[in-house]
Amino acid sequence: MDHFNYQDGVLHAEDVSLADIAAEVGTPFYVYSTATLTRHYQVFEEALSGMVHLICYAMKANSNLAVIKLLGDLGAGMDVVSGGEYMRAKAAGIPGERIVFSGVGKTRDEMQLALEGGIRQFNVESEPELYQLDKVAQALGKVAPITIRVNPDVDAKTHAKIATGKSENKFGIPIARAVEVYREAAAMPGIEIVGVDVHIGSQLTDLAPYEAAYKLVADLVAQLRSEGITIRRIDLGGGLGIPYVRDNQAPPLPRDYGEIVRRTVGDLGCEIEIEPGRLIAGNAGLLVAETIYVKQGEGRQFLILDAAMNDLIRPAMYDAWHDIVPVIEPAPGVEQTRYDVVGPVCESGDTFAKERVMPPVAAGELVAFRSAGAYGAVMSSEYNSRPMIPEVLVNGDHFAVVRPRPTFDEMLGRDTLPYWMS
Ligand code: LLP
Repeated sequence: MDHFNYQDGVLHAEDVSLADIAAEVGTPFYVYSTATLTRHYQVFEEALSGMVHLICYAMKANSNLAVIKLLGDLGAGMDVVSGGEYMRAKAAGIPGERIVFSGVGKTRDEMQLALEGGIRQFNVESEPELYQLDKVAQALGKVAPITIRVNPDVDAKTHAKIATGKSENKFGIPIARAVEVYREAAAMPGIEIVGVDVHIGSQLTDLAPYEAAYKLVADLVAQLRSEGITIRRIDLGGGLGIPYVRDNQAPPLPRDYGEIVRRTVGDLGCEIEIEPGRLIAGNAGLLVAETIYVKQGEGRQFLILDAAMNDLIRPAMYDAWHDIVPVIEPAPGVEQTRYDVVGPVCESGDTFAKERVMPPVAAGELVAFRSAGAYGAVMSSEYNSRPMIPEVLVNGDHFAVVRPRPTFDEMLGRDTLPYWMS
């Protein structure tokens, strides 16, 4: 469910016309819906109701300050994976006790930043990291709260680039070795064990791998407790998929996911943490672009947009499918046509869709990519010296630019010439 619908023949975000936003901020731009973000957060709240829990939004999906503040104000915690994300969470007013720190390569500086600023827990992914964190905490006269991320060797059945729960992936400690590592952690003066963590991948469209992984986690908790190790939290990671795909295959509902959580780990007396990113932000955002040219190729038509792979890299990187719709509502029964939808960047990888069947679009007309609220703006770059595109947040019938488009001067101003060039 989202709040992007045609009203009076024009695609709107909530009650704001995308054509009006385009006229004011120019194209391309990202636009997010407050109502959708709120609703998605609440869906998870409802799914976990009755269990003590904290939803730690995986802000890597969309870390715009306005987006994380909106979620933080609803009560969300944050899952951060870098010092920069930690700083964003703090800047958005998220208290340290609601921030979890994930990631395989936390540096000493990042550990120190979080220990000094306040942190709910570090999700530790290796023994060297555990030793490092113990050292850093002791040097600061602090104790670092930790979970250990276990790798359950479960196939999440998702795209290879975003699967994380198999033993061949770089993530976590093999679950079979976990008890041993917990024992080591228990003896460290700079470490306090608070729980267990698992995350098996992203864009999961099947709940069975979750069930398998969470059962293994429940077994591990029992084993750890039998050794006298206190486990009071279980962080179950994120990964619930959203519908991107043309066959309209419906991914599982958060409600059904909640039932699996309840069934597998619900009666262990632990606080449950989850780290959803995509499901909260993905369908809460669109990328809006203008058609520059419609080019007739050899047996193909190219829809050449002013957005490119640097703005939305998912199709190039994961062969991802994003629905592309005209902003002006097509006339009923209009004959569909077929386009290769591309950007202006000088490589063939800059292709959003091949042979996409969609209503005809003319030069100068706007199109919107759906499901672009997660892993869209955050993965963008200035490749081809295309300035980062603006982000807009809509709330009811008004909107605000929450990241402006930099001017060429601002973009160029970040480079400096060495002192020997004058
Ligand atoms: N927790 C951890 C430890 C993660 O690594 C991730 C995502 C999440 C939570 C959130 O997963 P989500 O609920 O969003 O699926 N750029 C890729 C997705 C990368 C996901 C990385 N980790 C894409 O555009 O599909």
